[in-house]
Amino acid sequence: MDDKLMLMIPGPTPVPEQVLLAIAKHPIGHRSGDFSKIIGECNEGLKWLHQTKNEVLTLAASGTGAMEAGIINFLSPGDRVLVGNNGKFGERWGKVAQAYNLNVEIITAEWGQPLDPEKFREKLEADKEKEIKAVILTHSETSTAVINDLETINRHVKAHGEALIIVDAVTSLGATSVPVDEWGLDVVGSGSQKGYMMPPGLGFVAVSPKAWKAYETAKLPRFYFDLGPYRKTAAKNSTPFTPPVNLYFGLQVALKMLKDEGLENIFARHLRLTKATRAAVKALGLGLLAADDVASNAATAVAPTQVEAEEIRTVMKKKFDIALAGGQDHLKGKIFRIGHLGFVSDRDILTCIAAIEATLQELGYESFTPGAGVTAAAKVFAES
Ligand SMILES: Cc1ncc(COP(=O)(O)O)c(C=O)c1O
Repeated sequence: MDDKLMLMIPGPTPVPEQVLLAIAKHPIGHRSGDFSKIIGECNEGLKWLHQTKNEVLTLAASGTGAMEAGIINFLSPGDRVLVGNNGKFGERWGKVAQAYNLNVEIITAEWGQPLDPEKFREKLEADKEKEIKAVILTHSETSTAVINDLETINRHVKAHGEALIIVDAVTSLGATSVPVDEWGLDVVGSGSQKGYMMPPGLGFVAVSPKAWKAYETAKLPRFYFDLGPYRKTAAKNSTPFTPPVNLYFGLQVALKMLKDEGLENIFARHLRLTKATRAAVKALGLGLLAADDVASNAATAVAPTQVEAEEIRTVMKKKFDIALAGGQDHLKGKIFRIGHLGFVSDRDILTCIAAIEATLQELGYESFTPGAGVTAAAKVFAES
């Protein structure tokens, strides 16, 4: 049956009909008063979502573009930076920093494990000359579905005093609390196709006053991603270049939906979806890559041992039109990932788990009691 695809990947995520309909409207002039009002409303909504009074700038870019902008606007060639790498995205920020000739030190953890805040503390405390200009890390490492302890690492950065903290919140924002002002996060990057319940195409960067100060002396090359013009025009509810007007129509509606749900409810929903998914996976006897206490609320990485991860994905897609994400790099074929980020409900999890059970039966996996996964997920939903 056509047009029945169910996206259970951690981005792009499902988009509500209201948002799709808004995007389907005729474009309007990006310098018109009507559009200016939409920009103003979106900017206010973005601040609300980020729990900040700082500017949150919108770029025509994916999450990677937002992060690249977040790195290049505040640093100069040769600046020493610490980059956390415990997965595909942390690894990417190291590559971006290297591409711009920063002096990069990578702090690694095995993929599937969280970054160790102590390793950051040691480096930051030892830096008496205050040479470290930034710490760059991924909050929710989507490739392994691990959440890093941003709060603690940020505390060590604050104790250092000089370094900026630059955060990839691409799959934590809108799923997990990212209290930008309370924690004093300097630069926070994200992308529309994740917790925003939007299609891909918009990148967002929140910038603190301390980061703007660094901007004044930062010398890395920048043009399209020079955040100065974005800041200046945002103050007038405008943009420096032609923005994807229709995506703003959608963003306006999506932010309103999020606001109506409320931050606490959004976080509670994602936590519930995560708990239910993990309970179901355990009940089915399939392994989990990440431990419970470091599980991201955006996705669950399943590491089956008695059945091929890729076979599960293939049957799920072919028979049930449910898209699951695979593993990346050395985790390819070893894990599959169930996304539960954005416009996802309890029903979606129950459907997905039921389809996984049917898939396991089809693949001849016998080490589970049919119904056990759905029962475990339903129990979590009944209790929360
Ligand atoms: C944590 C994280 N960071 C960065 C990105 C990259 O975002 P994009 O693909 O929008 O450039 C992703 C995408 O999945 C992600 O999950």
